[in-house]
Amino acid sequence: MEKIGFVGGTGDLGRAIAIHLAKHYEILVGSRSIEKAEETVSTILREKPGKDYLQENLRSAENRNVVESCKIIFLTVPHENAIETIRSLVSNFLGGQILISAVAPVVKVGKEFHSKFDSSGKSVSQQIAELIPKSIKVATAFQSVPAHILYEERPISADVLVACDELETYRIVSELISKIEGLRPLYLGTLDLSGEIERLTALVLNIAIKNKLKSPTPKFNSF
Ligand SMILES: NC(=O)c1ccc[n+]([C@@H]2O[C@H](COP(=O)([O-])OP(=O)(O)OC[C@H]3O[C@@H](n4cnc5c(N)ncnc54)[C@H](OP(=O)(O)O)[C@@H]3O)[C@@H](O)[C@H]2O)c1
Repeated sequence: MEKIGFVGGTGDLGRAIAIHLAKHYEILVGSRSIEKAEETVSTILREKPGKDYLQENLRSAENRNVVESCKIIFLTVPHENAIETIRSLVSNFLGGQILISAVAPVVKVGKEFHSKFDSSGKSVSQQIAELIPKSIKVATAFQSVPAHILYEERPISADVLVACDELETYRIVSELISKIEGLRPLYLGTLDLSGEIERLTALVLNIAIKNKLKSPTPKFNSF
């Protein structure tokens, strides 16, 4: 069975995606601290009793073990810590993997949410791609998926935009997304477009507060 890992898997988004993918894959819930990873897995098992696949497929790990051993890695840490986290792990990557960044560089400015890119203007995904070995393919996805809806396993109908440079990477990432009921993968284009996806988080947060919508998420119609 394919092994999928989460760097920062103890947070809201990591655990939310993890519980769905655990139906199909072995999952490493990664953390900077093994104790926190173990505690998170115990909490999930306590909050979601009677699901054998969680018992069987959810494992705790340090972030280092995630990048050493998983074929597909999700990066689900706050944007302020994403680059330093990858930098600290860069020598541990196995190589030849796919790294899916769900990171969104969003900040609150007064009563609004803004996307904040650094002075280079590059997206978080582009910066990560420059740091890690070239054999690791970076994809951007999940920035507009509300974690709590997924974690609570409530019905959802959402499009998950994906940016990555190679169609083979998209094929693998879209297969994963399609395994989560209610999510539809849509290919946006190369990693040069990843900033457009990273901006979606500020977009949905502002739509939520300005229009009193609980958990808006984009769904594209075609006519
Ligand atoms: N929540 C959502 O609905 C949602 C939706 C779309 C996209 N996103 C994006 O997904 C990412 C994760 O969001 P989240 O809500 O899951 O975040 P979160 O719960 O605040 O944090 C996720 C994990 O990041 C790790 N972390 C925290 N501070 C760190 C640091 N200084 N260095 C390294 N790791 C650190 C922690 O794991 P350990 O302490 O165990 O190491 C934490 O459990 C963010 O970039 C966010 O913009 C979130």
